[in-house]
Amino acid sequence: MRAFLKYFITAYVLAVALVVGIAGFRGSRSTKPPIEVFPDMDRQPKLRPQTTTKFAAWADGQTSRAHPAGTVSRESAWEDNAFNTGRQGGAPVEAMPIEVNSMVLKRGQERFSIYCQPCHGVLGDGKGITSKYGMGNTANLHQDRLIKTQDGDLFNTISNGKSTMMGYASVIPVADRWAVVAYVRTLQLSRLASEAEVPAAILPTIK
Ligand code: HEC
Repeated sequence: MRAFLKYFITAYVLAVALVVGIAGFRGSRSTKPPIEVFPDMDRQPKLRPQTTTKFAAWADGQTSRAHPAGTVSRESAWEDNAFNTGRQGGAPVEAMPIEVNSMVLKRGQERFSIYCQPCHGVLGDGKGITSKYGMGNTANLHQDRLIKTQDGDLFNTISNGKSTMMGYASVIPVADRWAVVAYVRTLQLSRLASEAEVPAAILPTIK
């Protein structure tokens, strides 16, 4: 019995010490700095931006360095570019800044079928497979407003989305987005072309 008590009391004291050690002082405040075993890089000399410094090498006494000569802001050089953003001079560009050929259209058709067709449908009429699962407000790409809108506006919708549609800039590279614009125009034209515009060889097959 005595031996048991000895072990019990030792174990009990250790258990209490452990519980108090881990949980006992949680939440209590101390004004003393914490014990620092490894200081890592907690404190290091640094300069805050846009204030002054006495650092001798910088004669102007500013902590922020001036831009290297010839630096061009991203807004002006990259964003105001018809190819990159579909916008130039603060407005969407009317016509796509790429040359459209059959390769571009094939590529556009392929990308459209991957990224747009599930919602907008094979024909672009907004009746893709998602409409069967309750997504009812997908835009019909044949509506008058979207026929008349600028190519740059379509490019912007594909890149950044519009209202409930999300953007596809992260998955469709710039050149492919223009190919999709070209293909959307093709879909639109497929319903707008007059008989005179159809090549004579094909005409009998669609009549
Ligand atoms: C997940 C479904 C979905 C996918 C995928 C999708 N869209 Fe949409 N799209 C929508 C919906 C929904 C709207 C209607 C947005 C609204 O008005 O709220 C829309 C609207 C549009 C519009 C009309 C924008 C306007 O000016 O009103 C265009 C153009 C368009 N989509 C093109 C595309 C193209 C091109 C792709 C492929 C790159 C694509 N969409 C992929 C759901 C989708």
